[in-house]
Amino acid sequence: MANVAVIGAQWGDEGKGKVVDWLASRADVVVRFQGGHNAGHTLVVGNQTYKLSLLPSGLVRGKLCVIGNGVVVDPDALLAEIERVRGQGLSVGPDVLRVAENAVLILPVHPALDKAREEARGDKKIGTTGRGIGPAYEDKVARRAIRVADLAEPETLSAKLDETLLHYNTLLRGLGVAEFGKEELLNKLLALAPKILPYAEPAWERLDELRRGGKRILFEGAQAVMLDVDHGTYPFVTSSNTVAATASAGSGVGPGAVGFVLGIAKAYTTRVGSGPFPTELHDEIGKHLGERGREFGVVTGRPRRCGWFDAALVRQAVKVGGVQGLALTKLDILDGLPELKICTGYRINGKHYKHLPAAPGAQAAAVPEYEVMEGWSGSSHGARSWADLPAQAVKYVRRIEELVEAPVTLLSTSPERDDTIMVRDPFAD
Ligand code: IMO
Ligand code: MG
Repeated sequence: MANVAVIGAQWGDEGKGKVVDWLASRADVVVRFQGGHNAGHTLVVGNQTYKLSLLPSGLVRGKLCVIGNGVVVDPDALLAEIERVRGQGLSVGPDVLRVAENAVLILPVHPALDKAREEARGDKKIGTTGRGIGPAYEDKVARRAIRVADLAEPETLSAKLDETLLHYNTLLRGLGVAEFGKEELLNKLLALAPKILPYAEPAWERLDELRRGGKRILFEGAQAVMLDVDHGTYPFVTSSNTVAATASAGSGVGPGAVGFVLGIAKAYTTRVGSGPFPTELHDEIGKHLGERGREFGVVTGRPRRCGWFDAALVRQAVKVGGVQGLALTKLDILDGLPELKICTGYRINGKHYKHLPAAPGAQAAAVPEYEVMEGWSGSSHGARSWADLPAQAVKYVRRIEELVEAPVTLLSTSPERDDTIMVRDPFAD
């Protein structure tokens, strides 16, 4: 029985939450494997809207959910989110939520440094979510991170905090920002321990058992391939690998367990934060997409930058991300536009490029090469079959398939759970 990994194929906010929620009904367990509470996944179910940042989207379906070792976990954010969704009537306890004991914790020093650095960068800022994601991943590879399991060992916590504070207070002092005291942090962690530890376990072992029992696993990616720390528009990226391969390392299963890789892309392009965005529109159409698509960050509330669909970018994401099928979302936002453009490549300093090169100067200078298509006057909103779609909308989707070199296997035509057209069941292998 196949498992499925869902990843973003642009710069995030492609509608991964809705797609994961929809697929979760077919899965037994949903696993987050990278990122942290920088993600913002919105799920609309009837008259309820759930906004999840750290909790896997399978919770809304009452599925077993796992926060894998590749995730950076802010314990305060986790507990606050659990309380928030409990307030919306979901039941969340250690019976449905498990957290990998070897996941890295985000402590108050991390957002403090994240924000102080962004401040210091001035107009060169990355536009991070300010949630400490980057510094927490730095600690992990620097081998000084405090992890979930450490909460059970007060002496380990105390020793690790010495190293943490030596590092962070030195940096914060240099940036002219308030330093942290050890006692306060240690007491905080000791108080969090009994609240977090009931969720902790060797998640890899549970996933292994589930797998051997023939259960279906859905791996829920956060962010997107163009924000991947290796393959994205570096340095304007997040600090984790967002490609499907990470589902394996970030949850403790072998690469063969990942299964079908579904990439999510909007029918146009958006980006929050700074960095290159060749098809960005600064005109009325960009404004129209933003308003009609309600393009505001779930996490930060910032308006998203909007532009035409960039097939060259998504094609690259398909290749490096391992995408086998594409879920195209928000097609309905394009309803009524007389003319649509699709970027097929770039012109950079007089030369044609099929894909964005890695050098930041070249990325910033990239001018899109467009193909123009006729729009459609009918409505695709809420369509649940190909027959419900305007003929020209179908043509648009078909052209995207050709250009990105991947089939569209799922189409989402509104935020509502059931307004979805399935072409191929990703679990059906
Ligand atoms: P979902 O899962 C969109 C962006 C930030 C910033 C950059 C680095 O909802 O698609 P970070 O705080 O991660 O160090 O910020 O990455 N970013 C996202 N953009 N959607 C997200 O998640 C994002 N998570 C991070 O805006 O440009
Ligand atoms: Mg988001």
